[in-house]
Amino acid sequence: DLPQVLVGGRYVTVLLDPHCYDTVVWESRTKLDFHAYAVFLMERIFDVQLPHYNPSDEKARMKPTLLHRDLQALTEAMYTNLRTVLLDDATEAGGGWHETGLLDFSYSSLLRAGYLTLYGVEALPRTHQSQTQDRAHSADVFHTFRQLDLLLPKLARGSLSVGDKDHVSKAKGRLWKLLSPARLATRAHRSTWLESYLLHLEEMGVSEEMQARALVLQLWATQGNMGPAAFWLLLFLLKHPEALTAVRGELERALCQVEEPVSQMTTLPQKVLDSMSVLDSVLSESLRLTAAPFITREVVVDMAIPMADGREFSLRRGDRLLLFPFLSPQRDSEIYTDPEKFKYDRFLNADGSEKKDFYKDGKRLKNYNMPWGAGHNQCLGRSYAINSIKQFVFLMLVHFDLELTNPDVEIPEFDLSRYGFGLMQPEHDVPIRYRFRP
Ligand code: HEM
Repeated sequence: DLPQVLVGGRYVTVLLDPHCYDTVVWESRTKLDFHAYAVFLMERIFDVQLPHYNPSDEKARMKPTLLHRDLQALTEAMYTNLRTVLLDDATEAGGGWHETGLLDFSYSSLLRAGYLTLYGVEALPRTHQSQTQDRAHSADVFHTFRQLDLLLPKLARGSLSVGDKDHVSKAKGRLWKLLSPARLATRAHRSTWLESYLLHLEEMGVSEEMQARALVLQLWATQGNMGPAAFWLLLFLLKHPEALTAVRGELERALCQVEEPVSQMTTLPQKVLDSMSVLDSVLSESLRLTAAPFITREVVVDMAIPMADGREFSLRRGDRLLLFPFLSPQRDSEIYTDPEKFKYDRFLNADGSEKKDFYKDGKRLKNYNMPWGAGHNQCLGRSYAINSIKQFVFLMLVHFDLELTNPDVEIPEFDLSRYGFGLMQPEHDVPIRYRFRP
């Protein structure tokens, strides 16, 4: 029941019964440690070494900056920045149809707006000139980031070619400059998240050079998943007209709740975002099919974990435990009918409320979809990410005509090298065309 694989001299136990996941993800760090692997990746991928680094402290510092009042501020800033990136880019490009790749378009829009939201903008109040600079600078950050992102799986596995190493080192060097504390110090409207993180690094006595590296790591942690998630969501909508019609219908109803004309809206109120349960279901379904993070733990002491069927399994000190929710629960045919298919209303009850009851072996599951991880290292930016993706889809559907260049195009296969890193990316981009509707 529990496949064990030997990787580089270490036994990795793969646990695929979602009924047991909760015990593992909430187990104390003195038994199942989740820091060691994070530190290894941090050093190997991002060259970050922090003195006295304690991920739990860092998490405690970050958490409040992504929730409650700060969440509202982030959501509002994101809406403004999405408009800067999407609408002003489109106005500048002029009317008529534009051709591009859907992944490039979605990833670039969300990362650029997300970067401006967290790391700050050129000036406040915004001027035409400062927004032009915001668009150019954020595009530079995205393009440089993307060069690194494309090589990330190879970098993590230590399999870069000589040419790749050169690309990686150039992209990192440029990102360290773009995100250096000195450069960021000149930016306006920086998020509480950034202020608090910088203070945390300073308190630990981290050098400015190392701070820049840590800020690049955070750019990846905070922005590496939203763009690909928005890509799959829009692609599923474009390939499933019944889903697109349902989302459009809901959007029109949501717009009736707001008093201003949409072109003058400077924010999309949380109550409007929360009223889009069809879009929520579409997002959950897209993530179910495309989110594939590894959840790993180092076994610190010999121990036994109870299984759902009453048996126990033993873990030896020094082994590694891996949960892979992408296989189960997310693609488990016992839990979902036709698990490979996109069904936009899979997470909706008949009365339009969120469906939360899913079963395996006759027992209700607590963890039935885990794109955000779970337990000690569940995603802290989840609410902000959900709001951001919904705002992006809203702006796209309200202000753009969007079509697949070839309506019969197949949904691309995954780039298999990305299993374990979060959202999957496609093997190749999907051509689309879009037209701005003022
Ligand atoms: C679709 C978008 C996103 C997805 C699918 C996602 C998913 C995840 C997952 C699976 C983890 C756990 C990683 C692990 O096991 O170590 C995680 C952690 C984290 N995420 Fe997200 N994330 C998204 C967006 C964001 C955003 C926008 C932010 C912040 C603005 C964010 C902040 C974080 C942080 C700080 C952690 C680390 C938590 C810890 O310390 O353990 N995420 N995310």
